[in-house]
Amino acid sequence: MLLWYIVPCVGLLYLLVKSFSILWRTIIAKSQAKVPPGNWGLPVIGETINFMAAINSNKGFYDFVQVRRLKYGNCFRTNIFGQTHVFISSTEAAKKILNNEAGNFTKRYIKSIAKLVGDQSLLCASQRQHKLIRSHLSTLFSTTSLSTMVRQFDELTVNNLSTWHEKSNIIILHEALKITLEAICKMLVNLEEKKELEMLHKDVVLIYEAMLSFPLRLPWTRFYKGLQARKRIMRLLDRIIDTRRKSKEKLDDFLDHLLIKGDQTTQLTNQQIKDNILTMIIAGQDTTASAITWMIKYLDENPEALHKLRAEQAALQQKVSHKAYLTLQDLNCMPYASKVIKESLRMASIVPWFPRMALQDCEIEGFGIKKGWNINVDAKSIHFDPMIFHDPHKFIPSRFDDDSKPYSFLAFGVGGRTCLGLHLARAMMLVFVYRLTTSYRWKVLDSDESIEKWTLFSRLKSGCPIRVMCIEEERELSNASKT
Ligand code: HEM
Repeated sequence: MLLWYIVPCVGLLYLLVKSFSILWRTIIAKSQAKVPPGNWGLPVIGETINFMAAINSNKGFYDFVQVRRLKYGNCFRTNIFGQTHVFISSTEAAKKILNNEAGNFTKRYIKSIAKLVGDQSLLCASQRQHKLIRSHLSTLFSTTSLSTMVRQFDELTVNNLSTWHEKSNIIILHEALKITLEAICKMLVNLEEKKELEMLHKDVVLIYEAMLSFPLRLPWTRFYKGLQARKRIMRLLDRIIDTRRKSKEKLDDFLDHLLIKGDQTTQLTNQQIKDNILTMIIAGQDTTASAITWMIKYLDENPEALHKLRAEQAALQQKVSHKAYLTLQDLNCMPYASKVIKESLRMASIVPWFPRMALQDCEIEGFGIKKGWNINVDAKSIHFDPMIFHDPHKFIPSRFDDDSKPYSFLAFGVGGRTCLGLHLARAMMLVFVYRLTTSYRWKVLDSDESIEKWTLFSRLKSGCPIRVMCIEEERELSNASKT
């Protein structure tokens, strides 16, 4: 009889002791998790002044991170704009944070960026809204639309490059910005009118310049000018949407697909459509144009890689010369060019870190992270880690002959927030490099490595000026001299 009491009591006691020990271990682990090393800076403003100084310097805003990474190691903390930021650069941390299987993190941009792209933007929407918007937008980046886009981008590139021999000195960044904006606007809202495109371009530049600014709404501030530019773009998009709703014409661009009536609960609102069209322009134009610019610079500095690339492109040219424009399938015949692109993206690290916010207290790599802290995956440090990429400062496309270590190539991010336009960006870079190498020889005129100030994405200040020599003209001249 006594056994009826003893067995449950012992069981209960066992459970109590077990729970207590788990609780105790958690408390101890929490108290043992170290705060990441770093400097809180001055009261309230923290290290904001140092951050702003880096943005305003020729080394670019990543220099702020690099200096501290060298001083404190893989994981450090700082305070910018009154908030705690942790920067972390290991493939294990990238996996944990970007895959976010435990749901500990959400994406978080600084206030100025959120205000400029709009709170319905994919970049800033709540997790639930993000899921809905992303599912709508992902379907737009289908193989069919990618094929159309390759054809359109190639046509724009051919037209643009055909005017070059009249100019001979070219700023790659300027040309690439023009072509990528035109291509993206055509794809999104079928906007082709030159004057509207020029105005839009100016406003997009104002938004870029405001993204890293202090969110102060005074008429002379960058932030205010960026907000005014956003308002003008919203008005333009309102006009386009209005006309589209009244028209019966089918244009087959992204807007047409987004406006198709569906179930009320899943249909995107006008504001969601507008914010996300702006987001795709912002996320797609500058990044791709900057990547193209870096790629041309790296190729110029690495004649061996350029030689190999030219050989591949010349062979392809023989096969496709009967066609006016490249197709998506043609891009699959450029294995070396694809590696050139990957290597350029690794070295340029256009988006140097990915911002997230901790939703609860957690631990990463033995460091305690508090709920509400900003935690940034420092992709650029991973891209230059000699333990992952040998001779990381050398441009070696063939390093991608073999698969790279998981979570080491982060140019387009990974996980639920991976770049939506990655295939499109790759395609644009392939088309551009094919047309350039098969039409021209070039020499970079200014090898200055300074980074442009006040830009969110890593961009060459010189824009990579080149002198071009038309291959066709060279051939004609040499034939003439022989006869
Ligand atoms: C070389 C060019 C590009 C680079 C290097 C790049 C890089 C990235 C990276 C690293 C992210 C993820 C950031 C994070 O996880 O926090 C991202 C997100 C995104 N990218 Fe790109 N991108 C490029 C081109 C494009 C293009 C052409 C488009 C579309 C037109 C685009 C649209 C987007 C969008 C919408 C997101 C947000 C995805 C989300 O939050 O769910 N990107 N991009």
